[in-house]
Amino acid sequence: MPPLLRSLLIGLTAGIVLALLAMAARAFTSSPFDMQLALALAILVALMHWWKSGLARRIDEFQTESRKGLQHLGEQMAEAQGLAQLVPYEHPYPLPFGGGWALTADAAALLAREVALNRPRVVVELGSGVSTLLMARMFKEMGTGKVYSLDHDAGWAEHTRRHLVASGVAKWAEVFDAPLARQRFGDKEYDWYTVPDAVRRLEQIDFLIVDGPPAALDPSGMPRYPALPAFAAQLSPQAIVYVDDAKRPQEQAMLERWLEENPGFEGRMHDTVPGTYLLRRKA
Ligand SMILES: C[S@@+](CC[C@H](N)C(=O)[O-])C[C@H]1O[C@@H](n2cnc3c(N)ncnc32)[C@H](O)[C@@H]1O
Repeated sequence: MPPLLRSLLIGLTAGIVLALLAMAARAFTSSPFDMQLALALAILVALMHWWKSGLARRIDEFQTESRKGLQHLGEQMAEAQGLAQLVPYEHPYPLPFGGGWALTADAAALLAREVALNRPRVVVELGSGVSTLLMARMFKEMGTGKVYSLDHDAGWAEHTRRHLVASGVAKWAEVFDAPLARQRFGDKEYDWYTVPDAVRRLEQIDFLIVDGPPAALDPSGMPRYPALPAFAAQLSPQAIVYVDDAKRPQEQAMLERWLEENPGFEGRMHDTVPGTYLLRRKA
């Protein structure tokens, strides 16, 4: 109900109650309480209610805006901190971390930390971009490791390849055209990557990055679910599955389902801007 109408109704109700009281008072006493006074009080009640509800609404709006502002500030700080942490992996030219599609700088810093700590030899990535460049650069410095990145978008795959060449790290990453195709996993069908034979043949995947396909391209509501069932048999015993965008409801549902279906795995949420979930086999 519109706030003004509600205030008028409350005023009207107050007026009726006061008028009834006035009539009752007249019947039993010689009270001077009259109808004009009841009407004036009703108007006063309606006005006070209108003013109070307007004030409450403005306070609510202010609180919502302040909360959003604080969240935005927190995210900016996390991004700035992430960029500072990425300085040791300095690139020959600036990379657009956090540019909407790309990993945010704090999620990229977490990726760099996990790669440095675990030194994966074989990385499979779903969704290429700055993450591919970062890992290829790290592998060049470490002298070991290779990224096999799948991209549904041939144009974007070529874009990533050009960057790998321009950065002098093409030897450490391979980007595959992997168009989406309707496939069945469990009881449902998904529009998911056509996995190239070269990736199918990999026996020990040490690190799997789940950052694609984009949610909008699959109507299943859980577009990235196939990643684990598709690669579970190829994961090495120490493998880590890195899930980006883990704060989104569809990724949360996906993780819940993965953990239900794979009781041998456990994971932990890291509080990056989009949420990063790291899944591995139980010790
Ligand atoms: C979430 S993005 C993958 C991002 C990648 N892991 C990174 O860190 O940059 C998923 C897919 O979106 C597409 N994509 C990435 N960046 C894009 C851009 N700037 N514009 C349009 N599509 C993009 C690519 O096809 C990519 O595989």
